[in-house]
Amino acid sequence: MSSLATSPSQDIISPPAEAAVYDRYAQAAGTFEPALCCPVQYSKEFLEVIPDEIIQKDYGCGDPTPFVRPGETVLDLGSGGGKLCYIAAQVVGRDGRVIGVDCNQEMLGLARKHAPTVAEQLGYANVEFRYGLIQDLALDLDALAVELSESPVNDPAGYLALRHAEERLRRDCPLVPNDSVDCVLSNCVLNLVRGQDRRCLFAEIFRVLRSGGRAAISDIVSDESVPDRLQQDPELWSGCITGAFREDEFVRAFEDAGFHGIEIVKRESEPWRTVEGIEFRSVTVVAHKGKQGPCLERNQAVIYRGPFKAVNDDDGHTFQRGERTAVCDKTFRLLQQEPYEGMFDAIEPRNEIPLEDAKPYACRRSANRDPRETKGHEYDATITRPNDLCDGETCC
Ligand SMILES: C[S@@+](CC[C@H](N)C(=O)[O-])C[C@H]1O[C@@H](n2cnc3c(N)ncnc32)[C@H](O)[C@@H]1O
Repeated sequence: MSSLATSPSQDIISPPAEAAVYDRYAQAAGTFEPALCCPVQYSKEFLEVIPDEIIQKDYGCGDPTPFVRPGETVLDLGSGGGKLCYIAAQVVGRDGRVIGVDCNQEMLGLARKHAPTVAEQLGYANVEFRYGLIQDLALDLDALAVELSESPVNDPAGYLALRHAEERLRRDCPLVPNDSVDCVLSNCVLNLVRGQDRRCLFAEIFRVLRSGGRAAISDIVSDESVPDRLQQDPELWSGCITGAFREDEFVRAFEDAGFHGIEIVKRESEPWRTVEGIEFRSVTVVAHKGKQGPCLERNQAVIYRGPFKAVNDDDGHTFQRGERTAVCDKTFRLLQQEPYEGMFDAIEPRNEIPLEDAKPYACRRSANRDPRETKGHEYDATITRPNDLCDGETCC
């Protein structure tokens, strides 16, 4: 059974829990709610331009912004008051852009209210906030509101027409298009999404990222499965507690969605809350998109440096420490980028196979590459490296 289906109770989470989430964050946009606050240290330098109201109404549990790069397009899921977006705006700079998505009009109102002040302080405006559900990032809820006002739903025929309208909006003017984002962020929101929507949620994160992009997500996880009774408690659910993913299932959700290079970059040792002996703590996970695509043979190999005897990647390869493992061109490139940088030695063939001549490669075989394959069977050079730079004693 897949990780997203292992908590049957999450599949029947009651509509009141969703309503509780809406009501609670609508209120928390107006009046700071201390119970929703999990203390986080953000880089002070980025807080200077952010208005106090936004800093105070912080309902996050971690800081994924160190994984944002200058010039990138960033999407923040469940942007709340906008603090993460305003931090990311400074990291990406005037050439980058930041989009916050939230389904709560009051939170959107709070975030948007301060956009002109932040833009004035920065000297550029590169942040916008959009109205949508993070498990359905194609559907623009503002556009849907226009449809509904023009064609209110009064009967089943109206309902069917609405479904067609939704599909049209998703297709023709998606809230967040495919492959359009470099970095997806989120801070303490995924746990609020209903169990039955979680597979879509991860599929959506994957869809909007371009190949080579990454998701950096801070969220609350549990160390044990949460009993149904606690999940059905609207107060505990909306308080970012009992909707928490179990920590192993959280990581597996990224695997199931097709990510690679998935890393727990931060895991608080102390729980934020403990309920009936179950510990709830903040983690930050970073996951990359880009292992999909054709496998082409270009006679390349990699050597895993250690320290483990062997490692498996998210694409089904096993790398034995110190051995020349044959890889396709895609894997060869992937293993030289983050998060694998420095773990492998990359071995190019002596005679390069041009990309246009490369043949398909059976990537799953995890075979070794004979050095003769790399160098060419006719290669028989004998080379002594010049020693004019040596001091005669210690030099290799
Ligand atoms: C715990 S707050 C975190 C806010 C913000 N990320 C921060 O760090 O302060 C959760 C936010 O996610 C929003 N939210 C909850 N479920 C959502 C969903 N399914 N789609 C979009 N936004 C959602 C809420 O409206 C709220 O603004």
